[in-house]
Parts: sequence; structure tokens; C-alpha cells
Amino acid sequence: MTLPVGTDYDIRIEPIGATHFDWLRKRDYAGWVVLVDDHTRADCLPLIEAELAGTPTVIIEVPAGERFKHLDTCRFIWEEMFRGGVGRRWCCLNLGGGVIGDMGGFAASTYKRGIDFVQLPTTLLSQVDASVGGKLGIDFYDVKNSIGLFKDPIAVWVDTRFLATLPARELRSGYAEVIKHSLIADRQQWDEIREWTDLSAVNWTDIIPHSVRIKRDIVLEDPFEHGKRKALNFGHTIGHAVESYFLNRENRLLHGEGVAVGMITESWLSADRGTLAEEDLARITDYCLRVYGHQPIPRDCFDELIQLMRQDKKNERGEINFTFLARPGEAVVNQTATADQITRSLEYYNALGTS
Ligand SMILES: NC(=O)c1ccc[n+]([C@@H]2O[C@H](COP(=O)([O-])OP(=O)(O)OC[C@H]3O[C@@H](n4cnc5c(N)ncnc54)[C@H](O)[C@@H]3O)[C@@H](O)[C@H]2O)c1
Ligand SMILES: [Zn+2]
Repeated sequence: MTLPVGTDYDIRIEPIGATHFDWLRKRDYAGWVVLVDDHTRADCLPLIEAELAGTPTVIIEVPAGERFKHLDTCRFIWEEMFRGGVGRRWCCLNLGGGVIGDMGGFAASTYKRGIDFVQLPTTLLSQVDASVGGKLGIDFYDVKNSIGLFKDPIAVWVDTRFLATLPARELRSGYAEVIKHSLIADRQQWDEIREWTDLSAVNWTDIIPHSVRIKRDIVLEDPFEHGKRKALNFGHTIGHAVESYFLNRENRLLHGEGVAVGMITESWLSADRGTLAEEDLARITDYCLRVYGHQPIPRDCFDELIQLMRQDKKNERGEINFTFLARPGEAVVNQTATADQITRSLEYYNALGTS
């Protein structure tokens, strides 16, 4: 299946094979850079390796993980490109999760004033979220994605076969974005997915195009996040803070696990506002708990969490910016909540662990 992103480029969702590389060859690049991390080199590269034959190819491997999404790794990528004789008429293929996509896109877009790149997302999170929307970048001064740019790839190739080797916890983390997409834009999909708890039984070939389409439609309408695109932040104001809080602790949370806490607490705030019906809050809470379990949040860290929310770059006029739900399938952007309301939403969440 092909989903065009305006007239700019296509997202192809199907097994990657000869037709993809024939299309690339027609663009007449002098060579290809393939950026991988140590996991995607072992698990994902073999699926496409045969197609690379016949074109000069430089494979660059970086260590896996968010902690390598920084300038030193970019320097290494640029050095390897220089050493490999990569010129401006080359194309970079980013084969990996959101870290490789964001950092590889950034490194490619700045190398010799920019070379083309293709996103080949290999995690569920990057297939339904990170590879769509043109946001590229790296972490700097411990602030996530603080250096970067908006730039579109020449193509996104999504192949669900890559998910076969993805650790179950990573798959579940990426699934939070699928839940989020349904809750902000597609009630029917929400009604369908809330029956699923065994993610190993999900047919990703159906669900991924659906989820990608929601994100594509939103970013096409508002590419630079002035309004509508903020809907994608549902669950992320509190979710990011919780993720950051647990980052350097023993019980570290993956992104989607933090977002699950965020979706519950921000649904509570939506209900407290009187927009979301109590029974929908109960359904969202129940489903997120069934998929993600419960992670108690120490009472004495609430102030620190609220402090983290205040630092969010999406805030305006000193107020913490939220996206709430009007109902499943419909988001309301540019909302705010007081520290007291946020505290009560976290208390609601904590109480779920004892019930
Ligand atoms: N650009 C955007 O719009 C956007 C949106 C959301 C998230 N992000 C970014 O995405 C990043 C997170 O992405 P992620 O969750 O994909 O993390 P990731 O890239 O770190 O991948 C997670 C882990 O899975 C491994 N892996 C990847 N694919 C695999 C496969 N098929 N088989 C086995 N192992 C595999 C990786 O090596 C890594 O260890 C963050 O840096 C975040 O900021 C960007
Ligand atoms: Zn997210």
C-alpha cells in the first residue's frame, strides 16, 4: 500500500524488495549509505542486503539506544561518510528505530548541505510515529531533540517483517502511539483495539497503515505544529515527565510506558473538565492498565514532575499545555491544568494500583 504525503513523497507499507530499489536506482545516486545500529545490523539488514548489490554502498554502524543519539555519534557518522567518499549525489538509508531515523535524517540533512535520505523504520514506534512528519534531530545538554530540523525524506518504506525480531517490551511501547492515534482521531479503531491485550496476536499489516494515515493527515494539515498537530501530544505532557523522572532510576520506563500513564492521567483531567464521559475514562484506564500494568508514582515526586512539565518546550505564556479528549476519537488542543488538578490526576492513577 502506498500513502502519498501531499505531493512530496510516498510512504510505502509492504515488504521491501526489488521494486523499492529499482525506484531508488532510477534516481541515479552515485552510492548509498546504510545507517544501522548494532541490533538492526544483525536483525534487519539481512532482509534487504541482497538488494544493495551493484551500487557502491557504505554501511555505517552506531551503538544502539537513545543515549547515543547525540553529537559525538553524528560526528562519527559524518567522519565515516567522508572516509567512504560519500558525495552530494548519494542517498542515506536509515535502517532502524526512531533513534536511527531522527539522527540519520539529521546527519544526512546537514552533510555537505544535505543529501537525500530514505526512512526504513524497524520498530513499531518508528513505523507509526517517528518516521512520519519530518522531525529530525539529536539530544543535546540532556534535553531530548533539542538540536534538529524539519526535513522530509524522499520516501518512507515500512516493512512489518522487521517487527518479528523486536523485543516484546519495545513492541508494547510503540503500541501506545497506536492507542493514542485511535483516541485522538478514530473512535471506530478505538472500539476495535480495546479488545486486544495479546500484542503477539495483532495483525500489524492492517493496523499500521491505519495508524500511519492518522499521523500523516494531521501533519499534512499542520506541518509545523501551530495547532492541529498538537493533538499528537495527547498523553505526552504527563507521559514525558514520568518518562524523564524514571530515566535514571532502576525501574526505567520506555517511552510508551510513560505515555500510558499520561493517557490515563490526561483522560482523568479531560473528565474532570467535564468533556470526557466517566465511562470513557473508565474504559481508557482499564485498557491501558491491562496492556501496561501499573507503575506507582511516589507521592513526593509530584512537584518534580510538575516542574518537568513546566519546562516542556510546547508550553506557551508560562502555562502547561495539554491536549485533552472531547470523546474517544476527538482531541481538544491548547488546554491547561493547574498544579492541583495535575496532582489529583496522579493520585487517581496511584489509587488504581491498590484497587
Ligand atoms: N521524529 C519524530 O516525530 C519522533 C516521534 C516519536 C519518537 N521519536 C524518537 O524516536 C526515538 C525512539 O524510537 P524507538 O522507540 O524506535 O527507539 P530505538 O531506535 O532506540 O529502538 C529501540 C531498540 O530496538 C532495537 N531495534 C530496532 N529495530 C529492531 C528490530 N526490528 N529488531 C530488533 N531490535 C530492533 C534498537 O536497536 C533499540 O535497541 C526517540 O529518540 C524519540 O525521540 C521521534
Ligand atoms: Zn510518543
